[in-house]
Amino acid sequence: MRENIFHCINVQQFDHAFLEGICDLADKIREISRTKAGMEYLASTLNHKRAMLYFVQPSTRTFLSFYSACQMLGIKCAEVRDPKTSSEIKGESEEDTVRTFSLFFDLIIMRHPQANFAEKIAYLLNKTDHPVPVINAGSGKDQHPTQALLDIYTLRRSFMHRGGVAQKRIAFAGDLRRGRTVRSLARLLTQFPGVMLYFAAPPEYQIGEDIIAILKQQKTAYEITDNFEEVIPEADAIYMTRLQDEWDLEEGGRVDIDIDRYSFKKRHLELLKPDGIIMHPLPRRKEIEAEVDNDPRAAYWRQVRNGMYIRVALMATIFHRDKNILEYYLSNNL
Ligand code: CP
Repeated sequence: MRENIFHCINVQQFDHAFLEGICDLADKIREISRTKAGMEYLASTLNHKRAMLYFVQPSTRTFLSFYSACQMLGIKCAEVRDPKTSSEIKGESEEDTVRTFSLFFDLIIMRHPQANFAEKIAYLLNKTDHPVPVINAGSGKDQHPTQALLDIYTLRRSFMHRGGVAQKRIAFAGDLRRGRTVRSLARLLTQFPGVMLYFAAPPEYQIGEDIIAILKQQKTAYEITDNFEEVIPEADAIYMTRLQDEWDLEEGGRVDIDIDRYSFKKRHLELLKPDGIIMHPLPRRKEIEAEVDNDPRAAYWRQVRNGMYIRVALMATIFHRDKNILEYYLSNNL
């Protein structure tokens, strides 16, 4: 039975049953949304709710997919993307700013450069007489829980005729140390039996020891390597990431490393399994050659679209509309 959630702060909140349940719900929302009547039904489910999208770090996909997901559920949105346009510029603390949002809105979706900011805000709001759900849409170098949900959803859909996510070999490549999407997804993958994880990166950008400790604790098999080409034929899914050099400054400057060795070239398609997939949380720079985009194994554009459905499912679950949506699905013989 799926546990309900209020805040969505980190991937430690999601157990296996929750992951399967929310992916099932996203599949049904996808089906319902194929018709005008279905879209009208979805848009009636939460049209009494309002959401604040507080994104003080850049975003294209996460912002727009949450925005679209809110629209699908009828939730009205407002946004603050530049703190210079809010009273933070007058010296108001971020905590007071977000507390103010909670007085006008029923949901706060936030992206922030601090690792624990969403958690701190959820804790702060819980102590007020008007707590509203907080969704972490990316926090520093640490976590991106809703990206991890859409990544699991993409893996599950891609391998639905091959037993799902269990037993799959997933290779991560690029800047793994500072990539919050990799860190969140690697943690979630420990919930699936028999998975094998490869981490292909230069030593300076290799996955953090804290994640390795979790893999060991969960008895999830993994391999650390600096040889990307060697893992391509082994993997069922290759998860590419970009260099997260926005953190260079706070880390004391740029490290001069050839990251091009960790990019997926057109010639690598010959090494990839015929039923393997290539994923990327995006945005990309040169980690995947554009010539790869039209190969059916390139899953990263499908991955973006999956983000909208899983976020609809998440918000419907937070506001207890999941059962209503399932009932609509069944009563309309979908
Ligand atoms: N994947 C992701 O978080 O993309 P954006 O930074 O564009 O939101």
